[in-house]
Amino acid sequence: KEPSSRTRICLGLINRLLMLAVGTAVIGSLQFGYNTGVINAPQNIIESFYNQTWISRFSEPISQSTLTALWSFSVAVFSVGGMFGSFSVGLFVNRFGRRNSMLMANVLAFLAAVFMGFSKLAASFEMLIIGRFIVGVYSGLSTGFVPMYVEEISPTSLRGALGTLHQLGVVIGILMAQIFGIESILGNASLWPLLMGFTLLPALLQCALLPFCPESPRYLLINCNEESKACSVLIKLRGTDEVSEDIQEMREESQKMMREKKVTIPELVRSPIYRQPILVAVMLQLSQQLSGINAVFYYSTGIFERAGVSQPVYATIGAGLVNTAFTVVSLFVVERVGRRPLHLIGLMGMAVSAVFLTVAMALLDQLRWMSYVSIVAIFSFVAFFEIGPGPIPWFIVAELFSQGPRPAAIAVAGFCNWSANFIVGMSFQYVEQLLGPYVFIIFTVLLLGFFVFTYFKVPETKGRTFDEIAAGFRHSSGQGAEKYAAPEEFNTLKGDDPDL
Ligand SMILES: *[C@@H]1O[C@H](CO)[C@@H](O)[C@H](O)[C@H]1NC(C)=O
Repeated sequence: KEPSSRTRICLGLINRLLMLAVGTAVIGSLQFGYNTGVINAPQNIIESFYNQTWISRFSEPISQSTLTALWSFSVAVFSVGGMFGSFSVGLFVNRFGRRNSMLMANVLAFLAAVFMGFSKLAASFEMLIIGRFIVGVYSGLSTGFVPMYVEEISPTSLRGALGTLHQLGVVIGILMAQIFGIESILGNASLWPLLMGFTLLPALLQCALLPFCPESPRYLLINCNEESKACSVLIKLRGTDEVSEDIQEMREESQKMMREKKVTIPELVRSPIYRQPILVAVMLQLSQQLSGINAVFYYSTGIFERAGVSQPVYATIGAGLVNTAFTVVSLFVVERVGRRPLHLIGLMGMAVSAVFLTVAMALLDQLRWMSYVSIVAIFSFVAFFEIGPGPIPWFIVAELFSQGPRPAAIAVAGFCNWSANFIVGMSFQYVEQLLGPYVFIIFTVLLLGFFVFTYFKVPETKGRTFDEIAAGFRHSSGQGAEKYAAPEEFNTLKGDDPDL
């Protein structure tokens, strides 16, 4: 039980090919983060391009309401793409393989870069919107491809550690976009098309490197039934000829998967056994997105501007730095501490930060120094997000469902996640116009609601088996079930058949 020394020994196992493959894959995570953060800093500049395009077409300036609608849609259409992408992951990975799927997805990244990069030249904001949609599809695919590929090529002992690189790639992508968005770099009236088209470079890099990366051995063995190819890939990835254990492990895992009937999405939604866990999974995803985190990642520069911050873009970069730092912190904490306490602390911390932000915004006219309070409030809002609502919902979905219903559960969770992301991206500016400084009160109320839900309904999943978790759900569901519940041993015995 000494994770640190074990990790140290295992670090010796990372060879160059594994590093190359993981590094190449997480370029996809970087792209997702980059395109989440890229529209934040240059909002005013691109809005004035919309206005000018409007003037040249209709000989009159754009109305504020049309501009708000167009900009909100340009921001949020990314999530519509993401929804399509996340639903299509399964179509690709089992047919073309993991590596080739990533390679193919880059066609979307190229297309998106061209649409967004040339929208100014073509005087067409429609092209920017189409580009945002396409890069959203790419991002939805990537968030499925990358963790899967990384998990499948990593040795068991390193799976957790390397798996977290996806999350790290995302937040570094956000930070990169915020830094490039500084006015003196790319965030100005003449260079913003490069800022939007930058996606081309990581895509090129990934395309150049992927051919040197191996296909996932799991795909070769289980999907293609090519044991010798899987062996030779494993030998190269592990740097040792002793791979029979890995092969055996994959075999067993896939047999376990085959024994358990695959649950479809309609079955998952209808069946009473899954009602509680799917409710928990969906609510947790909603708690992640409706916490208002993307109001910060999409619109923080505007928020800081209205909060009287003199250099709003730098405050946005500060938020990106805090985000990255606390993602690293959470990587260490999440493996050790239970899911429930982390999620509860994160939600409460975000709610309190949102209250501080609201107070700061409301008192700004009387007290100028309140602008500093708003900076601190947003930084702590982001920090608490990365402690709880950022990573925990995905952990819990994977831990609530065994192999059979898991793919369907992840699809439903992903759908809810992207939908809520869309709602926040689309409606934030409207609600802000309506409520002014009090806009974050809405998130406070939602966060407190999710806190109460988590406190009463979300079980601890860390270190518990699916059967134990399912038994817990049966205990807690309705009409004094405890009174009639069988003793613990009885539940464990019957654990294999949740119908009983
Ligand atoms: C659009 O541009 C015109 C002329 O430059 C300006 O007067 C107007 O305020 C702008 N409209 C918006 C909504 O920014």
